Amino acid sequence: MPDRILGIESSCDDTSAAVIEDGFLLSNVIASQQVHKDYGGVVPELASRAHEQNIVPVVSQALAKAGIQATDLTAIAFTRGPGLLGSLLVGTSFAKALGLALDIPIVMVNHLQGHILANFIKERGEENRQPTFPYICLLVSGGNSQIVQVNNPLDFVILGQTIDDAVGEAFDKCSKMMGLGYPGGPVIDKLAKEGDPKRFKFAKPHIPGLDYSFSGIKTSLLYFLRDELAKDADFIEKNKEDLCASFQKTLIDILLDKLVKAVKQTGITEVTIGGGVAANSELRDRIEEEGRRRGWNTYLPARKFTTDNAAMIAIAGWFHYLHGERTPLDVVPVSRIADY
Ligand code: KG4
Repeated sequence: MPDRILGIESSCDDTSAAVIEDGFLLSNVIASQQVHKDYGGVVPELASRAHEQNIVPVVSQALAKAGIQATDLTAIAFTRGPGLLGSLLVGTSFAKALGLALDIPIVMVNHLQGHILANFIKERGEENRQPTFPYICLLVSGGNSQIVQVNNPLDFVILGQTIDDAVGEAFDKCSKMMGLGYPGGPVIDKLAKEGDPKRFKFAKPHIPGLDYSFSGIKTSLLYFLRDELAKDADFIEKNKEDLCASFQKTLIDILLDKLVKAVKQTGITEVTIGGGVAANSELRDRIEEEGRRRGWNTYLPARKFTTDNAAMIAIAGWFHYLHGERTPLDVVPVSRIADY
C-alpha cells in the first residue's frame, strides 16, 4: 500500500490542501483569500474566518483531484507554525479532527521547512532536479529572510537572517507607499521589467556577518518619495517603472551579496531558493547567472511552489513521517518558531 499524505497549509492567507503518493504530487489546491486586498495587508481575523469557510471544500477538492477517498490516506501533515495563530488554529484543528476520525497519524511541519524543501516536490511526467545535501537555501518570504544550511531533510542550520523586516515585507510596504497595491512583490516584479534599475540609488545596509536588514531601505524610499512628491505631485506615476526596477535591484543586490558570502564561507555550492519572493523574475535570473559565473549548482523551485502551498507541507511531512515522527493530538499551533 503506497504512503498517501494529505498536506494542510493555513499559516497566513492561503488555505491549501495537497495529496502526495510515495513522494509524487497528486493534487495541490489553493484558495487565495481576496478579502485582504482593500486593506493593503493581511487582516488576521478575516484570514481565520476565510480559512474556516475554505478548509472543508479545499480538502474535499484535493482528495477528489487526487482520485482518492479520505480513507485511503496514510497520514496528515499540517503547518504548526510560524504564522498567524488564528489561521494556524484552523488547519491544526482540522488535521487533528480528521486524523482522529480516520485513526491515522498526524505530523506537524514547520512552515519554513516546507519552503526550503519545495525542490523535492515531484510531479509525474515533469522534470525535477533536486539538490544534493548539504545545500544552501535562500529563504525569502513575507515573514522571513534567512540563509539556511540544509544538511538533510530534517537538519537545518540558520546561517543568517533578517534583524528586522523580511524582504517580502519590504516589497509589500514599498508597493503600498507607491499606491501600487497588495501584495507588492508581483506588482513591483512586473513594473520593474519596463524600468531602468540604475536610475535611482537607495542606500544599502551594512550589517555584519550573514544577517540582513530591510527596514532602512523602506525609510530611505519613504523620504525620497516625500521629497520628490513635494516638487512634483505626479512623480510616482511618471516614474513608477524606474522606481520599481531600482528598488527591486537594491533588494536583490542585498540578498545576493550575503548569499555569495555564505557559499564562500561554507564551501557548499548547491544553492536553492524558497518562499514567496523566490517567484521574483529578476531574483531567479540573477541567481542562475551568479551560479553560472561562480560554478554553483542552482535549483529554482517551480513558481507555483514558491508561494504558500500545501504540496510543500505534504513533502516535508512525508520526510518526518518516514523518519518515524508522529505528533500527539494535544499539539497546539505556535505563531513563532525561533529555530528549526
Ligand atoms: O511565502 P509567501 O507566500 O508567504 C509567507 O510565508 O510569507 O510569501 C509572500 C510574499 C509577499 O511579501 C509577496 O509580496 C512576495 O512573497 N512575492 C513576491 C513575488 N511574488 C510574491 N515578491 C517579489 N516578486 C514576486 N514575483
